Amino acid sequence: EETGKSGYDHYMLKEIHEQPRALRQCLQERVDELSGTVDLGDDIATAVQNAESIQLVACGTSYHAALYAAELFRSQGVPAQAFVASEYVTSPPPHDDDTLVIGVTQSGETADTLSALRDAQRRGVDTLAVTNVVGSTASRECDGVLYIRSGPEIGVAATKTFSAQVLAVNMVAAVMGNGDTSHEFVSALRDLPGQVQTVLDETNAREVAERFVDSDAYFFIGRGYDYPVAMEGALKMKEISYKHAEGFPAGELKHGPLALVTGNTPVFAVVTGETGSEKTVGNVKEVEARNAPVVAVTDGRTDVERYADEVLEVPETDPRLAPVLANVQLQLVSYHVAKKLGRSIDKPRNLAKSVTVE
Ligand code: G6P
Repeated sequence: EETGKSGYDHYMLKEIHEQPRALRQCLQERVDELSGTVDLGDDIATAVQNAESIQLVACGTSYHAALYAAELFRSQGVPAQAFVASEYVTSPPPHDDDTLVIGVTQSGETADTLSALRDAQRRGVDTLAVTNVVGSTASRECDGVLYIRSGPEIGVAATKTFSAQVLAVNMVAAVMGNGDTSHEFVSALRDLPGQVQTVLDETNAREVAERFVDSDAYFFIGRGYDYPVAMEGALKMKEISYKHAEGFPAGELKHGPLALVTGNTPVFAVVTGETGSEKTVGNVKEVEARNAPVVAVTDGRTDVERYADEVLEVPETDPRLAPVLANVQLQLVSYHVAKKLGRSIDKPRNLAKSVTVE
């Protein structure tokens, strides 16, 4: 088992560090910077180009990638919505002839997600699996499959597969009718693995984690593409540290959660890109006025660091990709909080890598 961890204390940390490689594998032979092309094969191209609307179904961390994907597709004018798979089955949304259902599932075996995909198929809707596991049930049952090629993920808390899912859905968006295959964007895709490496090399996440390890609770806020990252940051924290953590859209803070904010509840503000970032900075000021410590995860496009007690920086990139970098910082914060607390990081209590019951 020690060899399996390649010298890292935990699989989770190893897998966090494997992200640059996982992302390179995901891009390999699919993205060509010189010609500015993204090629996922004719079947996937046809399926997504024919889709007039998209419904995404997923659970846990994969649901956060699905939330991100829905926003990305909508930004290109394609109606898209993400559903928690178990809710999709309970209350199936209306569809039309040209709806595509995308199941985002690392394992390809999550019962709730399979059940949602089967429900869609029963209603005659086309399905596409975005998965890591070759030959998994989702990959076999769906009409199409896009592999994220992350390699095995052993840690129960998903890390590298989230990053690869986000990258994969960016490639799906690029092959849509009005997808962005500009030289700038394709270069940004190619540069992402190296930028993740920069974050890993230069991060101060351990110091941030050590400073706030005794906090009562942790809140995570973000807007737009940063919202799924806030949700994922909170999920990671609760999964492996067993501490109370909540993520929500930055604008919702004032509609309730602000009542929970005290001097002992750090607020992690994910502030990347330009759309709405100034408003999130406004939310940060509200938090600061309540004496809560603020940790800004930022690409430096705003002056949020002026109001922050700690800053986790990420390199500047296309606003669509910055969330991947911000998320790596939050993965590391959760890891170091959980490590300091002596938690069972790779196998948290009560959780399973793949949940095969509904
Ligand atoms: C379990 C795992 C989570 C994971 C979720 C969905 O609950 O503990 O880490 O995100 O299943 O898994 P999937 O394989 O469908 O992505």
